[in-house]
Amino acid sequence: MTYEIQPLAFDPTSLNGLSAKLIGSHHLNNYGGAVRRLNAIRSELTGLDWSSTPGYRINGIKREELIAANSAFLHELYFQTLGAGDSLKPGGLSVAFSRDFGSFERWCNEFSAIGKALAGGSGWVLCSWSTQENRLLNHWSADHTHLLGGATPILALDMYEHAYHIDFGADASSYVETFLLNIDWDKANARYAVAVEHATSDLAVPSDEVLADPEKFLVLDVRRAGAYEAAKSVITGATWRDPERVEEWSSSLPAKPVVVYCVYGHEVGRATAAILRSKGIDARFLVGGIHDWTRADRPVEEK
Ligand SMILES: [Fe+2]
Repeated sequence: MTYEIQPLAFDPTSLNGLSAKLIGSHHLNNYGGAVRRLNAIRSELTGLDWSSTPGYRINGIKREELIAANSAFLHELYFQTLGAGDSLKPGGLSVAFSRDFGSFERWCNEFSAIGKALAGGSGWVLCSWSTQENRLLNHWSADHTHLLGGATPILALDMYEHAYHIDFGADASSYVETFLLNIDWDKANARYAVAVEHATSDLAVPSDEVLADPEKFLVLDVRRAGAYEAAKSVITGATWRDPERVEEWSSSLPAKPVVVYCVYGHEVGRATAAILRSKGIDARFLVGGIHDWTRADRPVEEK
């Protein structure tokens, strides 16, 4: 099966400080080259006699297959990372940056420092959702092969020289700063939401189960601070906990099954439940959040 080159999802003339010439060359020659290598390798693999091929040839071609495949896939994530250059809106990813790095600014500082440290060398800087640690992590990736086990990359910064030399020469630092101005945060947030959703599908609790025996559960409102402050009511009996500070309050919870809810039952509540689970707490998230709870006329009380 031939792997197809994915077209750019944005107008390459629309970026701020990254030229269409740079993006076009990168997409056509480097990403496209990786896809073409991958297809050539896969074609050769199809006809390989595994029983008679020497181990050193199998080692070599499987190594090259991995390099070509991950180069193609990480380039696709890189181009998906670029686009609107808008601001990060309050929500799942902004909560995660504060929770896992202290603040969005500290995440930026760490991510860009890893990129700048690769100046004169090469590699990727990835921000990934780790299902092992239930958090976002920034990490280095060399030779297209050093990915974080069990993690889903959310953002990708290409630090190979071909990604910037046309516009920036050897000034890798300016390239990193310019890259950060061109991130499509809405799409990044959507990728984060999907990654968390896949990791938490077994942690859902329907509202009927909570309503059937409310005393059984400790119900926690984990809407982000801004959403909670703007709200007038909470689910009856619930208390609010800041999802950005789960590390601080998780150790003081009573020994009781926990149900957390956010606005819609998406990544804020799901990630909080997963983090509590990793600390040995019997925690799940409420399907549909307080939005569906309220629409079904379930009991709420004023804050
Ligand atoms: Fe590249």
